[in-house]
Amino acid sequence: MPDDLPDMKLFDAIYGLRATRIYEDRPVPDEVLDSILEASTMACSSGNTQPWEFVVVTDPEQKRRIKAEMVDAFATIDAERAQTEAQLTDSSGRSVTGRAAVEHLDRVPAIVVVCWNPDRGIRMKGEYAENPDGSLRETREIPGGRGVSLFQACQNMMLAARAWGVSSLFTTFFFLRREAIKEILGIPPRIFMECAVFLGYADEKLGRPRRIPVEKVTHRDRWGGSWGTPRG
Ligand SMILES: Cc1cc2nc3c(=O)[nH]c(=O)nc-3n(C[C@H](O)[C@H](O)[C@H](O)COP(=O)(O)O)c2cc1C
Repeated sequence: MPDDLPDMKLFDAIYGLRATRIYEDRPVPDEVLDSILEASTMACSSGNTQPWEFVVVTDPEQKRRIKAEMVDAFATIDAERAQTEAQLTDSSGRSVTGRAAVEHLDRVPAIVVVCWNPDRGIRMKGEYAENPDGSLRETREIPGGRGVSLFQACQNMMLAARAWGVSSLFTTFFFLRREAIKEILGIPPRIFMECAVFLGYADEKLGRPRRIPVEKVTHRDRWGGSWGTPRG
């Protein structure tokens, strides 16, 4: 582990992490990005396959092209939402639809597009078959699937970023324009683009995250068993 890492208490990082959609127009230094990415790769993964690959987008023209795709995708999305207006608003009164993230996408200093590489990730025979265009399709149900080994790397990335004073957003919305964005980024057909993490210096004021209390989502010993209040 490098000895020049910032010192932040783990629980401060966890309790202060917020989904940040508006960023200052100020780059994150490459050394900081490098440290954040290294922390990400310390995550656990299925069979230690480390199936992640990162495309780090900092180029304004690439961001502009991605934004154009997403603006187009968001033009019709609201009619399809299953959640109510109230459910789509968070504790800071912000919309969680991702529209703000799309509107400000070209100002995100670094967009880390997180991909799953089957050449490392596939663990069982017959998990995937190849399509004529070189992409792969699932042919056998995999416990947890691809995301499970990537999401923990993303969480590490966001917590490490926070220690560096860098805010973040986890998102899966590039899926709405998966083929076009893979094309823009030159991601080969057989590589799965799964999610993305925005990194940058926040240009919005956010308090602590608000969450459903633990006792409402936890069952002791069997479903319905009361967790109680062990911390008094
Ligand atoms: C699987 C997943 C997908 C998400 N997709 C989006 C998204 O497409 N756009 C967006 O703005 N935020 C997205 N988010 C961020 C959530 O909206 C955010 O984590 C949630 O509202 C809690 O925010 P908070 O920690 O600031 O309270 C996603 C989060 C997860 C875990």
